[in-house]
Amino acid sequence: MAGSSEEAPDYGRGVVIMDDWPGYDLNLFTYPQHYYGDLEYVLIPHGIIVDRTERLAKDIMKDIGYCDIMILCVLKGGYKFCADLVEHLKNISQNSDRFVSMKVDFIRLKSYKNVLIVEDVVGTGKTMRALLSSIEKYKPNMIKVASLLVKRTPRSDGFRPDYVGFEIPNLFVVGYALDYNEYFRDLNHICVINEHGKEKYRV
Ligand code: IMP
Ligand code: MG
Repeated sequence: MAGSSEEAPDYGRGVVIMDDWPGYDLNLFTYPQHYYGDLEYVLIPHGIIVDRTERLAKDIMKDIGYCDIMILCVLKGGYKFCADLVEHLKNISQNSDRFVSMKVDFIRLKSYKNVLIVEDVVGTGKTMRALLSSIEKYKPNMIKVASLLVKRTPRSDGFRPDYVGFEIPNLFVVGYALDYNEYFRDLNHICVINEHGKEKYRV
C-alpha cells in the first residue's frame, strides 16, 4: 500500500498469470510485421488489458472519485496504460451525476494534492519507492499507485501498488508501451520476447 491517508479496500493481486501459463500462439492475433520472428508468445492480449483497465478505473472511481485527481504518468512505459485508464475514468465520470476533474502530468514535481501514480510494471519495487519518496516531500493529501503489471520476483522488496492489473511470472515482457531498448512500444499485446528478438534489438 502506498502511503495514503484514506483507508481503501485491498483489491489483491489482480489477474494472476501463473508461471506455467503457456500464453497464446502469436498466429492467433495480429501484430506488426517488423516483429515477426522476434516474439515467443502473447502473454496478455490487448483486449484483455483494456477490459481489465476498465475495471481498475471503476475501483479507482469508487475509492477516490469524490475528489479532483492529479494523475501522474510514469514515462515512457506508462503512457498506454495511463491513456486507457484516463479514458475509462472520464467515461465513468461523465456518466455519473458528479463530474470529477482530472489533470494529467508526466512526472514533473510540483505541489500536488491527490495523486494517482500510473506505472507500467513493478518489478523489484525500487523505482516506485524512489518515486514515492520524492513525491512525499511535497506532502500530498493522498498518494495511490496503479500499476498495470506486478512481477513475481524473488528480488521484490515487498512493495504493493494499490491497484494492480495483472500479476505476472518473472519474465521480461514487451508491448502496450513496454519496451526492450525502445522497441516493441508499438505492439498492442503484452508479449514475451524470444532470443532472436533480444539479439536483434540488443544495444
Ligand atoms: P523495478 O524498479 O525493478 O520495480 O523496475 C521497474 C521499472 O523497470 C519499470 O518502470 C520499467 O520501466 C522497467 N521494467 C521492469 N520490468 C520490465 C519488463 O519486463 N519490460 C519492460 N520494462 C520493464
Ligand atoms: Mg515504468
